[in-house]
Amino acid sequence: MHQRRCRAVAFSEYGTADVLRMVDHAVPEPGPGQVRIAVRAAGVNPIDWKIRSGAMADVMPLRLPAVPGVDVAGVVEHLGPGVTALAVGDEVFGKAVSGSYAELAVANLDALAAKPAAMSWEVAAALPVASTTAFHAFAPLGLSEGETILIDGAAGGVGSVAAQIARHRGLTVIGTASPHNHDYLRSLGVIPVAYGAGLAAGVRTVAAHGVDAAVDAAGQGSLRALLELTGNADRVISLADPSAESLGARFVYGEPDDMSGILTEVGALVAAGAITVLVARTYPLADAAAAHRDSQSGHVRGKLVLAPI
Ligand SMILES: NC(=O)c1ccc[n+]([C@@H]2O[C@H](COP(=O)([O-])OP(=O)(O)OC[C@H]3O[C@@H](n4cnc5c(N)ncnc54)[C@H](OP(=O)(O)O)[C@@H]3O)[C@@H](O)[C@H]2O)c1
Repeated sequence: MHQRRCRAVAFSEYGTADVLRMVDHAVPEPGPGQVRIAVRAAGVNPIDWKIRSGAMADVMPLRLPAVPGVDVAGVVEHLGPGVTALAVGDEVFGKAVSGSYAELAVANLDALAAKPAAMSWEVAAALPVASTTAFHAFAPLGLSEGETILIDGAAGGVGSVAAQIARHRGLTVIGTASPHNHDYLRSLGVIPVAYGAGLAAGVRTVAAHGVDAAVDAAGQGSLRALLELTGNADRVISLADPSAESLGARFVYGEPDDMSGILTEVGALVAAGAITVLVARTYPLADAAAAHRDSQSGHVRGKLVLAPI
């Protein structure tokens, strides 16, 4: 039987962004509990290029060629066997399992939510990893209204969404970023501080009541300062530095429970204007390599998105 094919970005070997190619790819088939989505936009995350580079090959072995991409927004185009919770034509956003840098992608129902009509495809594709990671990081921290949280890397994809969720929960948020991102942080209601050698001293000058909890959303070596400032390793999380556990802090990775519920909640917050997502740049699918190079620079403000697809 002739296998249906679609356009996708794929890599056949690990390496630099140059290994990414436009290909005709076999259309992925949804299984039970899954749907196939006509992709309108795909978000770019650092994990996409970390996997492409081969750095994750030991912990996440792939069958090559592989299509990168987790974040997806699009229209349900085919239902897996027995699926009744969604219908063909539904507009959704969430996490794909088949690689979202493609015209068609498969996702699990429990990693999808309805896209609010007022939310653009680009913003919908920018949200899933960033927002579910923020909820995942906050869960073990036991945050309370009125507390102060420090977010290291607050201008990035995860940091900027996490900072706004914390503000929405009634916390004071101090965030680190390069000086050129400090006005952006202020626009999110975040008190900016420069990262680097002066981080702890800089935070002390703005944290009137100290720091109750901290999230390392950059993985660039700030953990000791975060531990010093909170004085409590139970309330320090790293999302990007596996050495956190050797310092007594927690390394949070993987998927949170109830992704669909988180995405529904975050979609409503975005639609209501309580959270804004800065899409710094969009790229055509064929320019995925440029998007990877920009993401790898390590200084993206907000999110990069492949769109329209
Ligand atoms: N564990 C998980 O489940 C999980 C989930 C998602 C992401 N992550 C990881 O979390 C990290 C952040 O992801 P992302 O999507 O937010 O990345 P991103 O959008 O590329 O943002 C990275 C941010 O890091 C900041 N930064 C650069 N150097 C820094 C330093 N020395 N100290 C503090 N901040 C610095 C940059 O700010 P400036 O531009 O202002 O310099 C930039 O805004 C990545 O390593 C990613 O792989 C983990």
